[in-house]
Parts: sequence; C-alpha cells; structure tokens
Amino acid sequence: MPDAGPAEIVAVDEEAAFWDDRAAVLACLREPTPRIPPWFGYDARGSQLFESITELPTYYLTRVERDLLGRHAAQMAELIDCRRVAELGSGSAKKTRLLLAACLEQRPTTYLPIDVSREMLEASGAALRAELPGLDVQGLWGRYEAGLGWLRDGPAEPVVVAFLGSNLGNTTPAERAALLSEITATLRPGDGFLVSVDLQKPTDVLETCYNDPLDRSAFAEFRLNHLTHLNRRFDADFVLDYFYPRAHYDPAAAVVEGHLWATEKQSVSLPGLGLVLHLRHGDSINVGFSAKFHRPRFVAEVAGRGFTLQAQWIDAVWQYGIFLFRRI
Ligand code: TRP
Repeated sequence: MPDAGPAEIVAVDEEAAFWDDRAAVLACLREPTPRIPPWFGYDARGSQLFESITELPTYYLTRVERDLLGRHAAQMAELIDCRRVAELGSGSAKKTRLLLAACLEQRPTTYLPIDVSREMLEASGAALRAELPGLDVQGLWGRYEAGLGWLRDGPAEPVVVAFLGSNLGNTTPAERAALLSEITATLRPGDGFLVSVDLQKPTDVLETCYNDPLDRSAFAEFRLNHLTHLNRRFDADFVLDYFYPRAHYDPAAAVVEGHLWATEKQSVSLPGLGLVLHLRHGDSINVGFSAKFHRPRFVAEVAGRGFTLQAQWIDAVWQYGIFLFRRI
C-alpha cells in the first residue's frame, strides 16, 4: 500500500486539556447513579477496545450499518451532493470509507473526522489517504461540540455532518437535545445531516448484543477501561476486580445501560477530582447509554429542529436505519 503520509490534524478542543475537564467528569460522577461521561471511554486503549466490540459476532450494529452503506453508498453520495463530509466520533472510519469512496467517484471530497482520540485520527487518516488517493482529510481533534464550533466559525462552504453508529443514542435526553441544537446551529440551509440509529427491539436481542458472548471479553474490557482511565488521569484507586460489567435494557426508557456493579462495599478515592466515592455492594457506575429509537418519533424529533427528511435506508431484519436530513 502506498504511504500517503499523515493527514493534517487540528486541535479544536483545548489540546489534551479536555481530558482533564474535571468539572464535566465530577458532575457526572455526582449524579444519583455515578456516571462516567461517554467521551472519557475513548482514550487510545478505549478506542481500540471499542473496535473489538464492533467485531463481536453478537454486536450487529456495525455489520448492519456497513452492509447498508455498502449497498447504498452510490445513492447516498449522489444525494449528499456536497464536497465536505464531517463526521462526529469517526473512530477507525472503516465504514465511512465506503461512503467516502462513493463521494470521491462523483466529486472532489474533503473529509473532516472529529474524534477525541488523536491516535485514532492519525491511524484512520493515514489509512484513508492510502486507500482513497485524492481524498482530502483534515482531522479535528476534540469533543463533538468543539468540532461543530470549528465548522461553524469556518468558511461557509456546504457540508454534510455524518453521525453514524447510532452514537446519537449514547447520551442522556438532555445531552441529546443540546447536541441536536448544536448541529442545527452549525448547519446552514441546504447542508445535510446523515445520521444512523438503531431502532427499538426486544430485550433479549439487545441484552445479547450489549454483553459479551461466552468466549469473548471486549465489552467487559471496554467498560472496565473507564476505571483504568480514571485511575491514571486522576490518581484514583479503583480496583477492577471489585466490579462486574453488565448491560441491561430498560424497555420503558428504551435505553440499554452499561454498568459496572460493585461486587463489594468500597470507598474509592479520586484525589485528582477531590472526590471519594462510597459504594455499597450492588451499587453501580453507569458507563454508557445506548438509546433505541422509535422511527416516527426520531424523524419528528430531528425534523422539529429545522430539518426535512430527504431519504432513509432501513435494514429489513435488524431494523437499523440511516437517515439523510437537509437543513431548512
Ligand atoms: N453507538 C453504538 C451503540 O450504542 C456504539 C457505542 C458507543 C457503544 N458507545 C458505546 C456501545 C458504549 C457500547 C458501549 O451501540
């Protein structure tokens, strides 16, 4: 494979300082059920562990989305009809490659991946440039809001913001509303929003999907890595053996919740945050939501924020959808 060299990367958040956003982490840890904010799970190791989740035979989301993109990329690229594609939480960008290849066949394309893992931006940028010669890649290193801010303040060239992997579901309802508002405020009339979401399905399907099969440990390691990251970053003393990782589905809220359950009573100090966490046996720490969507309500939710639905692609078996909206 030819070495196309590294892609350009711009620090859009506050360089590495966002990892030390103590206020954000502290606020989440002080919720009634302590929570670790979603971006905190994606340090270099977390990003790699997340990649191994996407390779689990039981984790259908990535495969289904890749299949939808593979089948419909040409049509999506045609409808996208614009030279700049930004992506929130781009990760390895392996699925996005299918779409970018199709875009590149139709027009010169600039890809603007936004991710908190600098290592992931470097690796995915180099791989994309090697595989798709001619693709212009500019990585935006930071959290979603910072990446959107960079787009908003930049040149008023048309853009499509992609938000794949059902990542819109990895938020609380308040975070989701705020994020959608940011997206609305960033896009100009005619810009696109390509968003995919996993639709609601029975509890057993979802609990199988969000827990490890017997012979694998990708979910367990990804969830426990949140504690390793807190230990390193804030000098905390979490003992990983005292937690049991497990996800359950709450059908009333239509949310899968990943938790680390305390297997014994314990007090954990986080000197870097000035916090001591007291946990009883059976208490838990939330390490991520995955909301499951009701299609008409989802479409109405996005449309209500200044968009019209232009096209949708839904998988017949797993009921996973990719939706292209246009900013009015
Ligand atoms: N958005 C995907 C999902 O909800 C992937 C994902 C993001 C995820 N963060 C996660 C999966 C944390 C499990 C745990 O499935």
